[in-house]
Parts: sequence; structure tokens; C-alpha cells
Amino acid sequence: MSESMEVTTAPKPGNAEWQSRKDAAFPRAVGNLAPVFIEHAKNAEMWDVEGQRYVDFASGIAVCSTGHANPKVTAAVGEQLQRFSHTCLGITPYGSAVELAEKLNELAPGTTPKKTMFVTTGAEAVENCVKIARAHTRRRGIIAFNGGFHGRTLLATGLTGKTAPYKNMFGPFPGEIYHVPFPVAYHGVTLEHTLNALETLFKVEIAPTDVAAIIVEPVQGEGGFYPASNEFLQALRKLCDEHGIVLIADEIQCGFARTGKFFCCEYAGVEPDLMTVAKGVAGGFPLAAVVGKAEIMEAPLPGGLGGTYAGSPIGCAAALAVIDIIAGENLLERANQIGALFALRLSKLQQQYPDVIGDVRARRGAMIAMELVKNGDADQPDPDLAKALVTSAWQGGLILLSCGVRSNVIRFLPALTISDDLINEGMDTVARCLNRLLT
Ligand SMILES: Cc1ncc(COP(=O)(O)O)c(C=O)c1O
Repeated sequence: MSESMEVTTAPKPGNAEWQSRKDAAFPRAVGNLAPVFIEHAKNAEMWDVEGQRYVDFASGIAVCSTGHANPKVTAAVGEQLQRFSHTCLGITPYGSAVELAEKLNELAPGTTPKKTMFVTTGAEAVENCVKIARAHTRRRGIIAFNGGFHGRTLLATGLTGKTAPYKNMFGPFPGEIYHVPFPVAYHGVTLEHTLNALETLFKVEIAPTDVAAIIVEPVQGEGGFYPASNEFLQALRKLCDEHGIVLIADEIQCGFARTGKFFCCEYAGVEPDLMTVAKGVAGGFPLAAVVGKAEIMEAPLPGGLGGTYAGSPIGCAAALAVIDIIAGENLLERANQIGALFALRLSKLQQQYPDVIGDVRARRGAMIAMELVKNGDADQPDPDLAKALVTSAWQGGLILLSCGVRSNVIRFLPALTISDDLINEGMDTVARCLNRLLT
């Protein structure tokens, strides 16, 4: 090759360079868990820009439940992209959105006829639930739970029951939001406490006849992976029926097959009035929905709901593929098998470190957690250990997430298409890291 034809390629940036450029380009509030910049990902594995491989126990926070770059999702999206990417559902709609709404109406728990509306993110779905509930009831109050997480828009932040880092400095929040304790047996909060708190709220703060909705996560996600008991959800259903209050199930993290049922409130046999859907619904594409009882969904005026990208054709194509994959690959059953394998591995770890792993929660499919404490005491959370474990895990090739009001819970959210081998590999890393941190 002659000198003039020589091609010099600049070295590609590595993780450290991308991180320092990101720190310079983004505000600190938009943080990232690990300075790991992904180059490509496949099913439950990811590779960074330096070629390092990671087992993924996070799935982009419960989003890629059908695995990264699932070929069926990629094919459906590719086919849609060839035809068009956006026309706006509110201008000139397309059949895939109708088909998806029909499927969600069918899949939603309960026998009452349903209707669906689309938005782009989970927080928007939550906001729309509040709008619909208020339009239906013509009431103002919304009740949410301590430790609940409902998103980062201002109303959703107001509904969220955890201050740092979500609420600090962002107030004042929209009014008429009331929080009550979420029953968590491990922390001594019983269903009776919660029901008493609601009774007191109705006497002291807001009459039940002024309450538009109660919003609840069937498994609290960000708050610490605490499942709502069947009795709790049934009691809320009864209370809402008694007072004409709209029951909103926020299924954004726990829905769409994650817990071994299509929607988690099916465990309690409870039919919510409105339900949020996001994250896992579209295999990594931004799509969210409100699915609810048709009569309630009809309350807002024509044009009162929607958005430019609401129900994007790309998201709809992806979601239709995801629904087929869940059915075709029996991912509901697989979610339960995954939960059982994690339960086995975590209970062994708990036997080894009984003072450190205070609680293992693996009763709801592939929505699994362990709570880290000091001296085996639920009231002595160990957020430092949780943080150290997350760091040591990614350094060892495993992406792990923490959560919890006390920031001391490790949550496991693998793809429902993950193999047992990868689960065991990831859990070996967890065991190795804990061992290193505790000895
Ligand atoms: C239960 C729940 N609700 C709402 C949201 C907000 O969803 P998004 O981040 O898509 O706005 C989340 C996100 O983690 C969630 O877990």
C-alpha cells in the first residue's frame, strides 16, 4: 500500500473516556449505575465497548423480559420500519395499535369490558390514570403508599413514596395526594395498620367521597420488592367498591409475565378499575398503556388523552411480538422456574450469611430480592453493603440492581428467556462478591 493510501483509524473510546464525556455532557442527576458502555447485547448477556462480557440480572430495569435483541422482536420492528415509523395515532392511525389494544383488553384481569389508551412511558401512564379517575369520579384525592414508586414526572413524583433522590428539592407537588403505610410483614407493618391508617385518613384528611383513586403496585418495585398480599389487594378492592373509588394497579414493573402471571394482581383474583402497563410490554421500545374498565376509560372528552408518540407503530409492532413470544415460549411458567432457581440459590446464601441476608423474597415469579441488614435485624439496614455488592458485581461481570426505601435491597430481574446456566453463573458471582466483601 502506498503511503498516501494508508488509513489511520483513531482508537475507539473505552468505558472511562465515555464516562468522562458523559459526566461533562449530562447533569449529575442523570446518573448511571456502572461506568459500563454497552456495545451490543444478546438475550441475557451484554458486551461493553472494551469487549468485557456481563450477565444481565437487570434487563434495563425489567424491560427486556424477552431478552436483548430478541430476533422475533427485531424482525417485527424491522418490518414495521420498512413501511413507516410514525404517522401519529391521533391523526392517521394503523391496525397494529388496534390489534394491540384488543389484545391488552383481552389479557387484562377480570370480565368487565376493557378499553386501552397508549402513551410512551410509565410515568405518563400513571398520570393518565389519575386524569381518567378524576374525570370519572369528579373527585380530587389520590391515595398512594409509602415506598411506592410511580415515575419521575411531577405528579408521578408526588405519588411516589420515597424522598431521596426522587422528591428532594422538586416540590411543591400537585395537591390532594395522600400516603399511607404499605403492609410489609418483614418490617412489622400489618394489613391492620394499613387499614387503620386509611380509616384515620378518611376521618382526618379527606372524606372517602372526595377520593378519586387509590394507586398500588401489586409488588412494590423501587420501594424494595415487597409483594402486596392477596388479602391486602382484596381489602383495597372492597374499600374502593364501598366508596366508589377507582382502584389503579400500577403493573409497570411487576406486569407482563414478570411474576409468572400476565398481570400480578391476578394472584389476588382482583380486577383493578385501571391498570398501567409499560416496561416489559414492548421488549425495549418505549410504549406504555392504560388498560381499564371501558365505562371508566370513556370519561374524558374526545381529544383529552393521547400524545404525539403515544402508541408508536414501532412500539406496537414490538409489543405484538412480545405477546406472541410470551405465549409461544411459555414464559409465564418460565418466570416461575426462574423464581424457584433463584430462591434455591438465595436460601443457600442466606444459610451461609443469616445475619446479613435478612429476607429473601422469591414468591412472585422472576421478581426476586434479598434484603441486606446488620446483625440479622430488619431495623438495621445495610445500604453500604448493597452498594458495594452492586459495584463488585459489575466489576466481576454481572449487572445487578439495588432498590428499597432504605437502599438495602438487591433485586433480580433477569430476562424470562435466560438459561439456568446463566442464572447459576450470575449467582456464583453474587456469592463470590459477598464472600469477598464479608471476609
Ligand atoms: C411501578 C412503576 N411505576 C412507574 C414507573 C415509571 O415508569 P417510567 O420510568 O417508564 O416512566 C416505574 C419505573 O420504574 C415503576 O417501576
